[in-house]
Amino acid sequence: MVSRHSAGARRIPPSSSERISLMPRLARSVENVPHSRIRELAEIAMSMDGVLRLYFGESNLPTPDYIKQAAIRALRDGFTFYTENAGLPSLRRAIAENYRRLHSVDLDPLSEIVVTASGVQALNMGIRCALDPGDQALVLTPAWPNGASSVMLANAAVCQVPHPLSGQRYRIDFEALEAARSPRTRLLIYTSPSNPLGWVATQEDQRRLLDFARRHDLWLLADEVYDRLFYAGARLGDPVPSILRLATRDDAVMVVHSFSKSYCMTGWRVGWLVARRDLAAKATQLNEFIISHAPSFAQKAGETALAEGEGPLVEMLERLKRNRDLCLDSLSGIPGVTVPRPDGAFYLFPRIQGLADSFAFCKRLLEETRVGLAPGVAFGAGGEGSVRICYAAERSILEPAMERLTKFLRGSAA
Ligand SMILES: Cc1ncc(COP(=O)(O)O)c(C=O)c1O
Repeated sequence: MVSRHSAGARRIPPSSSERISLMPRLARSVENVPHSRIRELAEIAMSMDGVLRLYFGESNLPTPDYIKQAAIRALRDGFTFYTENAGLPSLRRAIAENYRRLHSVDLDPLSEIVVTASGVQALNMGIRCALDPGDQALVLTPAWPNGASSVMLANAAVCQVPHPLSGQRYRIDFEALEAARSPRTRLLIYTSPSNPLGWVATQEDQRRLLDFARRHDLWLLADEVYDRLFYAGARLGDPVPSILRLATRDDAVMVVHSFSKSYCMTGWRVGWLVARRDLAAKATQLNEFIISHAPSFAQKAGETALAEGEGPLVEMLERLKRNRDLCLDSLSGIPGVTVPRPDGAFYLFPRIQGLADSFAFCKRLLEETRVGLAPGVAFGAGGEGSVRICYAAERSILEPAMERLTKFLRGSAA
């Protein structure tokens, strides 16, 4: 054995079995985190040519030019240095102003908002601040897997509580939530609008979730990254009402948000966390050790997105709504396929009768038709038996993809 370090005391070399037992292993908390099955499917797809990609949660539209120009201006204006751990005060003020305008919620930008380097970092940070090793988090599923994986990274346990489908609408199973809670439970995570369901919590749902969290002394984490992608408001552009409308500033509530989805900024990595002051202060402090802060010029571009983004957002929503309806129409009437009409986000989650292995189904679909979807199994309890279609793609991709998918489904049913 060649030592990298020749100095120091000479030791007798260990036998091979000793060598293995002395070898440091990876931490169990990281070894146990499962791979993303969406990514697994995507990696097969990326090795193939001509795939119509509907597996990731993003459109193929570039970030709008007014946002790119804002980033270029910011670079020219010198936003190339470190910023505050909680993000630029000007961006935090813009986010607070946005909550005032959209939700009539009053937030203190300096103590209740932390800018993060993406929604997923906000999610990870919020979870990290709420859980100790050995605690348990309840997660409403099917859900984007990153919440549950972040719980595992915090050395805590995940208990998934599936949304049952009643007729054409998903709902929350409050009895199952009560039954799943244990003395170790410290956190409840839900996503509205939901990825992958497109389901949107009603105000009554939110009231009951808040009541459940208050009664059992839990943190309530609401992932609201899709709140602007809502098709059932009085007007397109009206957001899904935030849980912050119901919570007081002393409630143990956190909201995770992001610029990625509403402004086509997935690659920019900017998001935010709204939380009770003590948690926001701790998240700010921890940011120093994790990412320090989101990129300075990207934060400035985020400010412009909030200030000038309403018109382009409504145009995008009109396009997304038409896409949703196209996909719903193409799937309607296919024997054995049930697809609840989603009110938010940009996903359909059709359930396919008799489907027991959604990964194998998606792989076969990919190989035989070059259409890439995300397997329902990737989204945890309640997800197997379905597939997720992201309908944010351009029509030139979506239309042929839906044609091939429906043909494949009719062929499989025959
Ligand atoms: C439910 C949900 N939350 C959070 C995110 C994180 O978005 P980002 O990290 O790009 O800001 C996503 C992205 O797909 C999501 O679907």
